[in-house]
Amino acid sequence: MDKVINIAIDGPAGAGKSTIAKKLAEKLGYIYIDTGALYRAVALFRIENKLDDVKELINKLPECKIELGFENNVQQVYLNNKNVSSEIRQNHVSMKASETSAIPEVRQFLFDLQKKTASENNVIMDGRDIGTVVLPDADVKIYLTASPKERALRRYRELQGKPDCPTFEKLLEEIIQRDKNDMNRPVAPLKKAFDAIEIDSTNISLDETIEKIYQIILDKTKKRG
Ligand code: DC
Repeated sequence: MDKVINIAIDGPAGAGKSTIAKKLAEKLGYIYIDTGALYRAVALFRIENKLDDVKELINKLPECKIELGFENNVQQVYLNNKNVSSEIRQNHVSMKASETSAIPEVRQFLFDLQKKTASENNVIMDGRDIGTVVLPDADVKIYLTASPKERALRRYRELQGKPDCPTFEKLLEEIIQRDKNDMNRPVAPLKKAFDAIEIDSTNISLDETIEKIYQIILDKTKKRG
C-alpha cells in the first residue's frame, strides 16, 4: 500500500469534531476514528465493574478487551465482544471518561490500538492528543474550538426533547469541568500542537467549517477533486 494519510483533529468537548470528521472521512473515503469512544468504553468497563479505585482498574485492564469495527463506514466499539456504541454516549459516561482518561496506564493501553489503526489506513482521527502524542507526524493537524457557551448550546439542542435532557446551565458547567480536566492533566493534556491549524467555529456554520477544513486537507495532501 502507498503511504497512508493521517489527519488529526483535536479540540475540546463539543467543538463538533466528530460530526465534522465523519463528514470529511466520507468525502475523502478515509476511515473515521473517534478516539473519545475508546476512553468512553474504558469508562463503561469501570462503571460496570465498580472499579472506582484507580489501582483496581489498572489491575483489571487486561480483562478490558476493546475492539473497533466498521458498519457502513460507521465506527462501532466493542467492549468484551459487546457492541457498546450507543451505551457509551450516555451523559454519566462522558464525565467518567474524562476522569478515566487522566490515568497514564489507560492512555498507554489505548495508544497501541490507535497507532496500529492509523498505520494501516487513511484515517481522520479525532481526540485530544492526536496531533501532539498519538500521531505527531500526521499529514494534517487541525485544532477545532468554539466558545464554551456555544458548545453547551449545540449539545443542548442535540439533547432537547430526549429523556433526561440536562438543563443548559448543567451542560455548560459540565463542558467547563471537562475542559479543565482535559487541559490540566499531567499526561497528554488537550493542547494545540505547534504545527496544528486552529479553527474557531463559534461563529461559522457546520458546512462552512467542513469546507474550510476540507480545503486545508486538499492543499496539504495535494489530493484534488
Ligand atoms: O471526545 P469525547 O467527548 O467522546 O471524549 C471523552 C473523553 O475522553 C474526554 O473528556 C477526554 C478523553 N479523551 C482523551 O483524553 N483523549 C482523546 N484522544 C480522546 C478523548
